[in-house]
Amino acid sequence: METVRAGAPPRPLLTEDQIRIRVRELAEEIGRDQGDLEELVCLGILKGSVFFLVDLVRELRVPVAVDFFQTSSYGSSTSPGEVLIKKDVDLSLRGRDVLLVEDIVDTGHTLNTILSILRLRRPRSLKLCTLLDKPSRREAEVPIDYVGFTIEDRFVVGYGLDHDERWRNLPYVGIVEV
Ligand code: IMP
Ligand code: MG
Repeated sequence: METVRAGAPPRPLLTEDQIRIRVRELAEEIGRDQGDLEELVCLGILKGSVFFLVDLVRELRVPVAVDFFQTSSYGSSTSPGEVLIKKDVDLSLRGRDVLLVEDIVDTGHTLNTILSILRLRRPRSLKLCTLLDKPSRREAEVPIDYVGFTIEDRFVVGYGLDHDERWRNLPYVGIVEV
């Protein structure tokens, strides 16, 4: 396997066009499921999902409220489900329809914990939309309602995803060797 040098651009996995088309499809699907009900609270998990969320909500034709949630792990592999809330949701979620927007589901521990925290806020519905899914890495079961792309076990960056904070602004999703 060829190793990409530190400065070399990540090898493209998903092009800008593929992403744009898929985001539009996801928005149509979400809009259909939502019907002409009330507002949808689109809740982005910081920081990776911001780029995806912004593009997704602009394609949604249902009334939307936007909010963000951020956690960090304690960095312990012995308690993978234990997370610290770094930025809590500003809005009340009680009785509302919530769409959690994530960049990637990997082992599933982060999302699993976030979902259990958010369920305590008693939303009317809580759905999960992720741009990318790496099912081969799953350790904790996560109910995903909308998946942009299912990918193999590779470390990817771009379109919000980073490697040590680098490459988030790459307009496509590419593979880095780590
Ligand atoms: P997990 O599902 O709890 O294992 O963790 C998911 C988080 O790990 C994501 O929200 C990302 O921040 C990060 N992550 C997992 N895989 C990748 C990747 O391939 N590229 C960049 N970040 C990743
Ligand atoms: Mg993330």
